[in-house]
Amino acid sequence: MIRIAAVGDVHLDADVLGRFRPALEELPDCADVLLLAGDLTRHGTEAEARCVAEEFGRLGVPVVTVLGNHDHQCDQVPQVVKVLEDAGITVLEGTGTVLECPGGRLGVAGVKGFGGGFAGRCASDFGEPEMKSFVRTSNESAAALGAALRGLDCDLLVALTHYAPVPDTLAGEPLEIYPFLGSYQLGQAIDSAPTALALHGHAHAGSERGVTPGGVRVRNVAHPVIKQAYSVFHLGGDQID
Ligand SMILES: [Fe+2]
Repeated sequence: MIRIAAVGDVHLDADVLGRFRPALEELPDCADVLLLAGDLTRHGTEAEARCVAEEFGRLGVPVVTVLGNHDHQCDQVPQVVKVLEDAGITVLEGTGTVLECPGGRLGVAGVKGFGGGFAGRCASDFGEPEMKSFVRTSNESAAALGAALRGLDCDLLVALTHYAPVPDTLAGEPLEIYPFLGSYQLGQAIDSAPTALALHGHAHAGSERGVTPGGVRVRNVAHPVIKQAYSVFHLGGDQID
């Protein structure tokens, strides 16, 4: 069995530094790894990234993350990534990593993802260049996730995104903004590999549980949804979470 702790959308800045740390100190007792589903910061500044490094660094378990849309806001992504990686946090973007856990080799493939919408209610690659660019970004992001998932040699496979791969976990959000919260292509990418669990954030007013068309369990771990420092999922045993 592999124990996975996960949270997203912690939106750290100096004024909330320390909010998660008491629970994080106990994390090695209940989890083998911590996965962060993006929106680590409020506006994606280097200073905010240093808060993330202080809060989520040196935990005693590997920490793997994707970035969220908020982490892109100030166009300081390279600086943010460097601060996180200097703190020992692995940042995935169309890439994957394999972690040796006591219960087996855990493969994590991650991408921020993008909007686009869901089957029957999605943007199409047609018309203005701006719309084509929007759809191309969504397609390329999903393709990168699928390739990363299929490229990992591991015992258990997890997909980590910021944007949602299914509409199920958006329940509670206004229908009008679903196309900006995720895309069905991410779900197709997850279904293209033997994925055991898909984790995402972004939908603060969404709900926790969903499933891809291919039957992969999806969990929205946005902090406002799970209302705790992290959720823990058990993979490879008799049951999942
Ligand atoms: Fe967020």
